[in-house]
Amino acid sequence: MYVILLGPPGVGKGTQGVLLADAMGWQRVVTGDLLRAAVDAGTDLGHEAQGYMSAGELVPDPLIIEMVKEKLTALPPGRGVLFDGFPRTEAQASAFGLMLQALGRTIDGVVVLEASDEVLTARIAGRRSCPSCGAVYNTVLAPPKQEGVCDNEGSQLVHRADDTAATVEHRLTVYRRETEPLIAHYEASEASVHHVQGDKRVEEVQGEVLEVLGLGT
Ligand code: AP5
Repeated sequence: MYVILLGPPGVGKGTQGVLLADAMGWQRVVTGDLLRAAVDAGTDLGHEAQGYMSAGELVPDPLIIEMVKEKLTALPPGRGVLFDGFPRTEAQASAFGLMLQALGRTIDGVVVLEASDEVLTARIAGRRSCPSCGAVYNTVLAPPKQEGVCDNEGSQLVHRADDTAATVEHRLTVYRRETEPLIAHYEASEASVHHVQGDKRVEEVQGEVLEVLGLGT
């Protein structure tokens, strides 16, 4: 299956993406993670992307489309793929459609996670993540066993540079303007679009995501 996770910053795309991919043995294509890795590695893409990311702006479409194209070509075939944070604009969605067509694939499901701005802001303020394995925690809502340390890797957890109050507000505005219209885009396509409330407990959200995709037990 090819599935897109759509939703505003902080709604739980990363959290649910890891759970879903682990449960189903799927691969994940997470554009935010790919960009952060490029920034950390100091590549040309990383240098170009960094300013946009820390300002809460979208990285220009041509850079993203090229990055995803490369990633898709390198994925071993035959396994499900979960797309988190991509596509995010009409231009990305159109280019993605062409990439999939070339691969003879279609999008099987789009899961739209939803929560109020209050919930999103509170979640992002407390988010900490593991730079080694990508595990996501929250200082209040989902703390690690030992403060500041990853349960899996023992690495020091980090606070994302774009998780400041001002940037989060802007990221939400950009989401509403650029990405939310993709819900209508996919509703008008052959893909099944499912809306899931993301403001419940992680396990409850996971159960609903599996159910709407027809993967529940
Ligand atoms: P990206 O990394 O994609 O960030 P985002 O979309 O803003 O989403 P987040 O990672 O903030 O949130 P999430 O929904 O994954 O929530 P999470 O699971 O972490 O993008 C970053 C930047 O990169 C963009 O601003 C842009 O500049 C650039 N970029 C990326 N893709 C791009 C593209 N395609 N085009 C152009 N630019 C692009 O959860 C958040 C917190 O809540 C965590 O602390 C978690 O523990 C907690 N939590 C999650 N679920 C629950 C729950 N059910 N109950 C309680 N707590 C929960």
